[in-house]
Amino acid sequence: MPGIIPEPVLEQIRQNNDVVEVIGSYFPLKRAGANFRALCPFHKEKTPSFNVNPQKQIWHCFGCGAGGDVFTFVMKYENLDFVAAVRRLAERAGIKLEYEERAGEPGRDQKESLLKLHDLAANFFHHNLMKERSATVAREYLKKRQITSEVAKKWRLGYSPDAWDGLIQHAAGKKFSAELLEAAGLALRRESGDGFYDRFRGRLMFSICDEQGRTVGFSGRILTDEKDQPKYVNSPETPIFQKGRILYALDKAKRAIIEETYAIVCEGQIDTISCHEAGIENVVAPQGTALTEQHARILKRYAEEVVLMFDADTAGQNAIVRSAEPLWDAGMVIRVAVLPQGHDPDSFVKAFGAEKLKELIANAPSFFAYLLDRLCRQHDPRSERGKLQIGRQMAEWLVRIPTPILRATYAEKTAKHLDVSEDALRREVAKLSGNRRDRRNAPEGDTESDKEADIGVGRPRGLPEEEMLLQAMLANQQVIELVAGTLDVTWLSRSVAGETIQQVLKLHGAGQWNGPHSLLREGERGESEQLISELLLSRRAIKNPEREAPNCLMLLQRRWLEKQVHDNRRQQQSQGLAPDKMETLQKQFVDLDSKLRHIDALLRGE
Ligand code: UTP
Ligand code: MN
Repeated sequence: MPGIIPEPVLEQIRQNNDVVEVIGSYFPLKRAGANFRALCPFHKEKTPSFNVNPQKQIWHCFGCGAGGDVFTFVMKYENLDFVAAVRRLAERAGIKLEYEERAGEPGRDQKESLLKLHDLAANFFHHNLMKERSATVAREYLKKRQITSEVAKKWRLGYSPDAWDGLIQHAAGKKFSAELLEAAGLALRRESGDGFYDRFRGRLMFSICDEQGRTVGFSGRILTDEKDQPKYVNSPETPIFQKGRILYALDKAKRAIIEETYAIVCEGQIDTISCHEAGIENVVAPQGTALTEQHARILKRYAEEVVLMFDADTAGQNAIVRSAEPLWDAGMVIRVAVLPQGHDPDSFVKAFGAEKLKELIANAPSFFAYLLDRLCRQHDPRSERGKLQIGRQMAEWLVRIPTPILRATYAEKTAKHLDVSEDALRREVAKLSGNRRDRRNAPEGDTESDKEADIGVGRPRGLPEEEMLLQAMLANQQVIELVAGTLDVTWLSRSVAGETIQQVLKLHGAGQWNGPHSLLREGERGESEQLISELLLSRRAIKNPEREAPNCLMLLQRRWLEKQVHDNRRQQQSQGLAPDKMETLQKQFVDLDSKLRHIDALLRGE
């Protein structure tokens, strides 16, 4: 990825975006000695452990371990990929990314114009709603739904005039062609093939934004009782609007989702707005569809847990099960807030108030408890048929639970509810589990328990000597040269620190080492970034890297030698060893042992 943008350009962008200024533009930073400090935006905390260092141009949170440089901050905070973050910072510094024109990313110009056009349209609809006489019907509707004009302004609500070419005319005045409006999904071609007409007419307009708050699409609610018209008309898929990826209000909810450590998903725009205005701000909604895999991935970047709060009607409850699948597969914790019959979140807040809704959310049961309860209401758990139905459907979900403890817990609960033996249920699960593996064509040996072993066990951070050596290398270029000339990479452990040391040496060997930032720029290597920023800002800074490094190297070599000695002894003890093999081993032993003694003498300072 870094290859796309030339190194000198990256360097220029970095130099023109002071990390303190950039982070300070998102939230206030307080000076604390050599660093600036704030509450960490990436986890919930009461005392600030988020540090920004202007000399090193690095940030790091000692609370959650997140860290990096200005690029990684913007990537993480704005949830952008590396190139998008670079683009954002280039824009901020007024640096033109020449490569983009040459690299000819074809759709880019069109995307820019579509965004501009959407901005224009959103303003146009909003202005209509707030000011135009013709929008009285919409303003009255808002009043009825208790939406104030401040709220309308904050959410950029609008009104599309009840004409055939209101927006087309307005956009034409600003030199936007009808063809572009068609590409934006805002205009439709007449059936005669001659000319265009507005897609949205006489509707209350919701402006749908991307994660950065730019309008990328619209949803228009009907304001009359006409039965032959759909209640909502939505923008079609366009290069900037993909329903499967967009969550309404995510731009406004992302801070709250991080702070609350979970996201609430409801069904409609009005539900979302009502929740936000009631002080529940970690709420988003998909675009009238069930949640997709992409939605799940997006939410997972902000939180590990989702509360589904759909309408109490059957459609809403069915959507819960459908939406739970991608969330579940993404490894998220799911709870379900069940509203009383006939309610959606909007009507609930209006009827019972925000506090009651908060309570309902706080007490929302886990998805499993919800599912079991729902199935037991759909089928009679006392009848044989019912037992079979419920058992099978629960098993479908139980089989997806990766952790044995949770799976056992819910299997037990289900069995109790159905009054069947756990063993029978477990066999049902085992049957499905076999199928699932077959379907996925998993290689032999890739059993559930293998997978379990992988869960939550990332690479180790590294040996203390490795961390210290890396810290010394990051602090001083001469140390890198020393290490390059002395270290045997087999001494390193398979850890984040070990791999990062090799990475430094690789960059150094290729003449691409320009300080710690060259590493951070590799991008998307979360673990190593965290380690690097931590080592750079650590309070236990190395006083004299050039003196410490040789020590670390010796300790690493010593550790390696000890392991060789150990292996050698084991081999010598094995049965039926050929005499010449034994001899070799013994020679090796003497050699290893003398090396070990030599190192020990050096370490003792002799
Ligand atoms: P609802 O019918 O529950 O609407 O659809 P709502 O949000 O409660 O709206 P009000 O309160 O009646 O005004 C939920 C969501 O499903 C999508 C919309 O995104 C809506 O917000 N939807 C609904 C459509 O896309 N098209 C439709 O015809 C209906
Ligand atoms: Mn609804």
